[in-house]
Amino acid sequence: MTHPSDSTTTPADAARADLHGRHVVLGLSGGIACYKAAELARALVKAGATVQVVMTEAAEQFITPVTMQALSGRPVFTSAWDTRDVDGNANNMAHINLTRHADAVLVAPASADFMAKLLHGRADDLLSLLCLARPIETCPLLIAPAMNREMWAHPATQRNVAQLRADGTHLLGPDSGEQACGEVGEGRMLEPEQLLEELIGFFRPKPLAGKRVLITAGPTFEPIDPVRGITNLSSGKMGFAIARAAAEAGAEVTLVTGPVHVGTPRGVRRIDVRTALQMADAVIPLAPTQDVFIATAAVADWRPATLAEQKIKKNGSKVAPTFELTENPDILAAVAKQALVEGHPFCVGFAAESHDLLKHAREKRERKQIPLIVGNLGPATFGRDDNALVLVDAHSHRDLPPADKLTLARWLITDIAQRLQSTETPL
Ligand code: C5P
Repeated sequence: MTHPSDSTTTPADAARADLHGRHVVLGLSGGIACYKAAELARALVKAGATVQVVMTEAAEQFITPVTMQALSGRPVFTSAWDTRDVDGNANNMAHINLTRHADAVLVAPASADFMAKLLHGRADDLLSLLCLARPIETCPLLIAPAMNREMWAHPATQRNVAQLRADGTHLLGPDSGEQACGEVGEGRMLEPEQLLEELIGFFRPKPLAGKRVLITAGPTFEPIDPVRGITNLSSGKMGFAIARAAAEAGAEVTLVTGPVHVGTPRGVRRIDVRTALQMADAVIPLAPTQDVFIATAAVADWRPATLAEQKIKKNGSKVAPTFELTENPDILAAVAKQALVEGHPFCVGFAAESHDLLKHAREKRERKQIPLIVGNLGPATFGRDDNALVLVDAHSHRDLPPADKLTLARWLITDIAQRLQSTETPL
């Protein structure tokens, strides 16, 4: 199940300015998805990027350069014969100059026709010309296809997609769903916030490339009867941020989550569960195939021993019902036990404590026999966008200062990647 991401909107994201210092050429080819490019330009600017918009003649049929100039804060280029200076260069070669200081060219929307053009190296308008003339080593090309589902599925387009990939072009999407034409299928352009998340991830270092990371997140829900249950206040935000950071770092990520209201990070495989037993059933068979296991879920320690098949009613006698509880399996401890034998996955636990954080985290790490535990003050962090962590291993501890959860997640993932590397590097 996938959910739209909500990554562009939080104040934490704005404060982080993930694209600070990046210069992006945003190309628009013709398609109704051009209206989304306006929002994308705004989101890129908000994330700290400088954005140079270049539009094809067809794109101008859908949205005006005036709109794109207002949102990007820079004059828009539309013609190969445009004589204006670029970055102070007056040699009348916009098709060269526009990409010489760019960190990437992102074409969104990329129409079927534009993709066919790119494939053949044709260069009869400014946008295709600059894509061909860009320095291929330093200025990657990303495209976000947008077209009717029949056009996307057509063998010609699929052939072009395969060849564009082989030529080093990065494809973002497309998504499937309702289309402007009223049909439903694959070919919809990704939403602006999804494209932003993809671009931010694209620029991140990839220390976990080729690694598999399994993460648990959120609370569990232990039913008492068909309408009631035992749960807790975990929002899932920390686990989801870690999943995003791991995916950005190049890992293949599986996220097993209890009931939460958080959007799935791009590129993450999500498995939804409700109870601790279901979480254990999803995690334990998968764990031996993984390089890293990070248990952030607030798993209920106990569940009702029996499930009432019908809603428990008030009986006239005013006697409150009582419930017998039974212990849930400790998922992390089970995976860690297996890992001691197999040598993997590298297990990371979380300790949410209300006091004496370091002491309790140390004890928990030893009890669970895991190499690394991450301590945080539980009641202070549940549901919030920021947090502070302490990383505790067998020898020492390291404080990660207060920050938004994605920043902390990236620091944690960098730390884990270094630990993996040092265990893999022969002495
Ligand atoms: O023992 P405690 O619940 O405090 O341990 C917390 C750590 O263990 C967290 O990493 C949590 O995800 C994991 N855990 C688990 N299965 C349980 C209980 C906790 O994986 N049943």
